Amino acid sequence: ARTAAVIPAAGRGVRLGPGAPKALRALNGTPMLIHAVRAMAASRAVSLVVVAAPPDGTAEVKALLDSHALPERTDFLVVPGGDSRQESVKLGLDALPPGIDIVLVHDAARPLVPVDTVDAVIEAVRDGAVAVVPALPLADTVKEVEPRGDGSLEPEPVVGTPERARLRAVQTPQGFDRDTLLHAHEAVTNAVTDDAGMVEQVGKPVVVVPGHEEAFKVTRPLDLVLAEAVLARRRA
Ligand code: CTP
Ligand code: MG
Repeated sequence: ARTAAVIPAAGRGVRLGPGAPKALRALNGTPMLIHAVRAMAASRAVSLVVVAAPPDGTAEVKALLDSHALPERTDFLVVPGGDSRQESVKLGLDALPPGIDIVLVHDAARPLVPVDTVDAVIEAVRDGAVAVVPALPLADTVKEVEPRGDGSLEPEPVVGTPERARLRAVQTPQGFDRDTLLHAHEAVTNAVTDDAGMVEQVGKPVVVVPGHEEAFKVTRPLDLVLAEAVLARRRA
């Protein structure tokens, strides 16, 4: 079974604040995207990495990948991403060559996922699951509210409190049987926030395997501090 990783990396990173597109921001001197590509290439099963780049940064991303060492066994492709994550993933999937039968989808914004987590996801797909999501139990209790929206600071009414022990915070890489994911991306047209959600919508089973604390998403400025601390600890 040949495995490819699609990396949506076309976001601006609005929540991180002004600056370069998030995937191109440096973590301890190396662009976040390069860390993410290396995290996928670290798995011996991954033979191809497809990056969906910021549409105006495709050439820059190609040059970056050319200038940073990857394992000999790993090929890469760069395609322009789209206006939403969902669209960027679809554009990456469209670029997959024949002969790939397992696809990982991994956020460029999760640069530090350990290889053991990547391998566990691939293993679960090889064992027969069509969609596999790494996830962790929540530390915080979650409330459903009636959102005020528009940045209003008025108090929001609580609608309910789902039982925390039944909730999981999902990460990437999410792993899929290729045909299942392609079909889901073609069939689902409403906006979703993760790929497994599309597979759920077409009625196929999705399973969760243990995620990892270091697979957190770099979203806000404090996450950069945490990511650089994790890298520093790895080097120590
Ligand atoms: N992404 C993408 N194409 C988009 C939007 C997002 O490929 N049009 C990617 C991001 O580059 C990121 C991943 O999807 O690797 C997860 O999205 P998120 O963390 O929300 O990143 P951004 O959208 O860049 O950040 P923000 O929402 O703060 O702007
Ligand atoms: Mg976003």
